[in-house]
Amino acid sequence: MEIHGRAPTLQWTVPTATRRRIALFSMPFQGHINPMLQLANILHSQGFKITMIHTEYNSPNHSNYPHFTFKSISDNFSEIINQLPKKDPSFYIKYLNSSCVDPFRNCLAGLLLEEPIACLIADAGFYFTQAVADELKIPRVVLRTSSLGCVVAYGVLPILSEKGYFNPPKEDYETSVPEHPLLKFKDIVKISINPQGMSEFVTNMHNQMKASSGIIWNTFKELEESALETIHQDFPIPNFTIGPFHKYFSASSSSLIEQDRTIISWLDTQAPKSVIYVSFGSVARITELEFQEVAHGLANTGLPFLWVVRPGVVSGSEWLELLPEKFLERVGDKGRVVKWSPQQEVLAHPATGCFWTHSGWNSTLESICEGVPMVCSPCFVDQPIIARYVCDVWKIGVLLKDDFERLGIEMTIKRVMMDDEGEEIQKRIHCLKEKVNLSLVEGGSSYRSLQSLVDYILSF
Ligand code: UDX
Repeated sequence: MEIHGRAPTLQWTVPTATRRRIALFSMPFQGHINPMLQLANILHSQGFKITMIHTEYNSPNHSNYPHFTFKSISDNFSEIINQLPKKDPSFYIKYLNSSCVDPFRNCLAGLLLEEPIACLIADAGFYFTQAVADELKIPRVVLRTSSLGCVVAYGVLPILSEKGYFNPPKEDYETSVPEHPLLKFKDIVKISINPQGMSEFVTNMHNQMKASSGIIWNTFKELEESALETIHQDFPIPNFTIGPFHKYFSASSSSLIEQDRTIISWLDTQAPKSVIYVSFGSVARITELEFQEVAHGLANTGLPFLWVVRPGVVSGSEWLELLPEKFLERVGDKGRVVKWSPQQEVLAHPATGCFWTHSGWNSTLESICEGVPMVCSPCFVDQPIIARYVCDVWKIGVLLKDDFERLGIEMTIKRVMMDDEGEEIQKRIHCLKEKVNLSLVEGGSSYRSLQSLVDYILSF
């Protein structure tokens, strides 16, 4: 059976009389804000009242969510973020986990004076929130915004760091890591430039996930069955795989950057499955040289492309000033470059044939749900792990060689768009797309897991 389109409206709405409040707290980054707001919408549709606590930095747009209450906590992150090392997320996550403690505790305590709260749902990256929840005696459920496979792999990072695997000799780059053979040494190198900081972050996060009352995952059981078994052993608390969240509510309203919608009419003029869509998400960066190779590589394919160039994706540049000379004239109507796109709509458009992505978890799920094969260029943190799953486990994408080089880019895109290999990839991802849809309808795994989550929260 094939089921197209969005998941049907959820049907087991909790009676209004039992409405209880949930407080949610997201990390202030696009890839975390999107799933948290989607989850809030899902729970609201189940009859819960929603309070979103958020930092001033990257505040969501309140007017898009008139049915929620918002509480902002002060942070001076905007002032210092430009001084923090961009390539070391563990550093700014550590910073946030210390600077948010007092304002968050005061905010939550204030909320409790107004009304009882069934539970706190906090981003797993905010590991400090467990101590606050314990102190204020409310259950804390965690939202982990990455894949199950990523969390399993993160589990071995502290050992890999101790063994010095983050700094292997170049000749070992293509060798599998004995402790986690799916990964190669070159993947470990990419995860973080600060192995000690990363290990410390992972240890803190995992310890406080284990101490929580449960974990919500933006994934579905059929996609990550074997990783789920490991998760049940490593995190012996209730685990809820209710995703993909965006199938219930899209991420467009939680976008921090304005989405350029003019490209949809351009896509309408393109042949089915002919367009290469390129986006490296909200935080990944590339060098000036890589940027120019991307431009040449795309133009050389001769295929239509839609390229998201996020301002700041190349350090020190405003936007398009580093493009090769006369690039836009050369590609003419064949190529479109925008600052930010309505990504889910682009992926769902019949003209989109391939997604060249940084392998962020939201982007990967969105691509799977629309059956769009991927070219993967992971940058850091969870992305090299997710890319391995895409290319070597699910076999629904191809990894681009590390050096962004125009010929390699052209060949890899053509492998996916034009070769027999691409057709096989297409068949496999289409099969996954059908599994996603089945998981979300009545009786499906995500549907049932959401029902369990609602019952669980009501039991607090
Ligand atoms: C970050 C990390 O990089 C990622 O690895 C982790 O899994 C989540 O946090 P990000 O880099 O932003 O996220 O990537 P991703 O998880 O793919 O999220 C990007 C979101 O922005 C997606 O929901 C996507 O639909 C949206 N987006 C992206 C747009 O709306 N428009 C765009 O042009 C590009």
